[in-house]
Amino acid sequence: MTSADGRFRIGLLGHGTVGAAFAELLPRRAERIAAITGLRPGVVGVVTRSRGDFDALLEQSDLIVELIGGIEPARAWVTRAIRAGRHVVTANKQLLSQHGEELWALAREEGVQLRFEAAVAGVVPVIRVLTESLAAAHIERIHGIVNGTTNFILSEMARTHASYEQALTEAQRLGYAEADPTDDVSGRDAAAKMAILARLAFDTPVHLDQVVCEGIERIGPDDLEHARDLGLGLKLIGTAERVDGGLSVRVHPAFLYSRHPLASIDGPFNAVTVESESITEITMSGPGAGGPQTASAVLGDVISAMIPPASTPETSERLPIVSDVVSAFYLHLDVVDEPGVLSQVTGVLGTHGISVKSVVQKGLGHNARLVMVVHPVLESRFFAALEQFADLPAMRTAPRAIRVIEEDFTQ
Ligand SMILES: NC(=O)c1ccc[n+]([C@@H]2O[C@H](COP(=O)([O-])OP(=O)(O)OC[C@H]3O[C@@H](n4cnc5c(N)ncnc54)[C@H](OP(=O)(O)O)[C@@H]3O)[C@@H](O)[C@H]2O)c1
Repeated sequence: MTSADGRFRIGLLGHGTVGAAFAELLPRRAERIAAITGLRPGVVGVVTRSRGDFDALLEQSDLIVELIGGIEPARAWVTRAIRAGRHVVTANKQLLSQHGEELWALAREEGVQLRFEAAVAGVVPVIRVLTESLAAAHIERIHGIVNGTTNFILSEMARTHASYEQALTEAQRLGYAEADPTDDVSGRDAAAKMAILARLAFDTPVHLDQVVCEGIERIGPDDLEHARDLGLGLKLIGTAERVDGGLSVRVHPAFLYSRHPLASIDGPFNAVTVESESITEITMSGPGAGGPQTASAVLGDVISAMIPPASTPETSERLPIVSDVVSAFYLHLDVVDEPGVLSQVTGVLGTHGISVKSVVQKGLGHNARLVMVVHPVLESRFFAALEQFADLPAMRTAPRAIRVIEEDFTQ
């Protein structure tokens, strides 16, 4: 529905960081949008915890913008808006990574648009690229730095040699991390975004709980220091890729060689790399969060919804989800420096069919530190070796391991 008087009426749910920025941005762009679409958009009402009534707002709106976050009441209100035939624009990755299928199905049934560009990578137009520009591409793999908080923390640790705790405190001071950073540092925020990207790129329903996820809480400054010696940089990387006829979706810290397109993405920025035979590789990057930046992506969706038609994505494949994949690893072992220890270490690696690509050994008094990169191996095999290392009497501290992404796209 659109009003006969040339106005396009927007009901705004949430008036926090993004909602307030959207309400401020819209009037400044309304003239230009009217020139493009023939309709002048305006906010007709706002609902927050302390003001507004959802039913009354829905009644007067052509489109609902949901910027509350979380599952309820966002899910109930988005559902009711779609059932009432209203287009919906949301930035809510938690909602879509857990209830996207039911909401997309409902939107298709009702013939309305459910748009969500701002739910992944903020202002970087990755959703549009996957659903429009690359709609017919056979995508092989997506890598993403989709959480600005963790990218800032890891960049800060690499730049200043700060500990994880110091870098987190700095991120909080600068407003890049919440007072409770759990969702970000545990990788769960990135996992929600990767579930959405995987769903779009591989036409397969992916629930947040199916994403294998590891956070950055246990990364130490020495991991970054040794990595530098080996020519590697550390990022929290989300991956969605075809593996053995299935789909693997995962988030974990990973080392990258400096020529990888994501290696240079520093600070609170986001970037996504899409690989397909027909396009080789595309990388998109930009601010992943922030009120005005996210509001700009929301506004882009509002304009798209004002210019029909655009279809909501439908799943055509149901690839099995794969959890055990092949990875190269960085391995950090602190051992007693005595004869025979190195052969014990290589013995464990050999038993599990793991071969070493590069190794750096450092003497530490009576101990020695072995930092190595091993060639790609099935992760379950590598973790079995890791367990065996932990049992060796020569081991001084628990062995540490981080995945290494080897592609660099320079050939
Ligand atoms: N912030 C970013 O940079 C960013 C970036 C990308 C995506 N997003 C997404 O954008 C959405 C909004 O984020 P935000 O940072 O703007 O959140 P926020 O600052 O916490 O604002 C949330 C707003 O929703 C309202 N709200 C919360 N619970 C409600 C309830 N039960 N009933 C009615 N209203 C309720 C709040 O009302 P009160 O004002 O009454 O508390 C507030 O106005 C989230 O889905 C988030 O994931 C945010």
